[in-house]
Amino acid sequence: MTASPLIEFIAREHPAFVHLPLGLVAALPVAMLGSFHRQGRSLLATSFFLAAIGWLASTIALFSGLVWGRQINLIGPSSFIPVVASEKQVLQRILQVHILAALAGFLVGGLCAFLLWRTWRRDSHVGADGKDHRHHAGRRFWERGVGAPALLVGLIWLGCWGFSGKLGGIMVFGSEETNKAAAEADKAKRNDLEADLPIRALDYASLEPAEPDPIRSKAHGDRWRRVWVTASGIDAYKAGKALPPGAYAVMSTFSDVKGRPGTEPGPLYMKETKADGSTAFAFYWARIPEALQKDFGNQDSVYWRSPDPKLATCLGCHEKGGSPAK
Ligand code: HEC
Repeated sequence: MTASPLIEFIAREHPAFVHLPLGLVAALPVAMLGSFHRQGRSLLATSFFLAAIGWLASTIALFSGLVWGRQINLIGPSSFIPVVASEKQVLQRILQVHILAALAGFLVGGLCAFLLWRTWRRDSHVGADGKDHRHHAGRRFWERGVGAPALLVGLIWLGCWGFSGKLGGIMVFGSEETNKAAAEADKAKRNDLEADLPIRALDYASLEPAEPDPIRSKAHGDRWRRVWVTASGIDAYKAGKALPPGAYAVMSTFSDVKGRPGTEPGPLYMKETKADGSTAFAFYWARIPEALQKDFGNQDSVYWRSPDPKLATCLGCHEKGGSPAK
């Protein structure tokens, strides 16, 4: 996505924009408290304007936060909140709470501005009986000034945004938890040699061929296939048994030309029995022909690994890790 320079600016400066509404809302309770004082009359109007400007300014902050989150791929291009797929996505989890707290503050803030507006309007009138009902005239303490309910709502508003801001600070500057999570993700990626490419599947020719000749496989895109199995699993495979832990099978595929095996490579399929006995799948297609790309989310290449939900179809036939009936 290429955004206009203005949108780019609005997105990148999110950490700066938020300080305007936050500062106004931090000053708000002070003005509100002052309005309870006998001489604090003008502070009612001040409170209303602080709240109104803070609330309006926050719309820019909310918008810039959304655009920023989408630009750095923490939020999907058409979503409003990040998806947390695993425990380790600490940043996404913090961002979710950050957004919810900001939105809660926005709703509470709207209510607060409305309450202040109503009180301000009422107090700038002289009653029909000609008496001055303004400000403190004959009111109980909690009904004076902006009134206790508005003060309470204002404090909740500040609480929501203060909390959201604290989480924002953690996301920008890091905390022990996020830094630890980032380091762990880094380490996991370094230890996971196949994070970017299915290295073992690509090296299938180093394994034991399960059959001498290619066989046509209706179940895997109606291509020709050959199955290659690790030495540790070839006997089990030939006996039609489940592969032992640590063993894996790779199915290389190629095109069909008029009912005979062609040479155009198709996808690589991999099935592995992990050390803990569970089954993992991988599907790798380095170059998807243009005509088929629409079936693959318009990608020109895909690499899926368990637990990718796109591999659910494999499980449909390959239950329990055993070879399906042919
Ligand atoms: C329509 C049923 C079906 C689907 C869907 C399917 N398979 Fe298979 N698979 C089979 C059958 C049947 C065999 C046995 C060999 C053959 O007929 O080609 C097999 C064999 C294999 C083999 C060779 C090792 C073995 O167990 O025989 C691998 C590897 C494999 N499939 C991986 C996958 C992967 C990865 C997926 C998902 C992307 C998948 N399969 C989807 C039916 C299926």
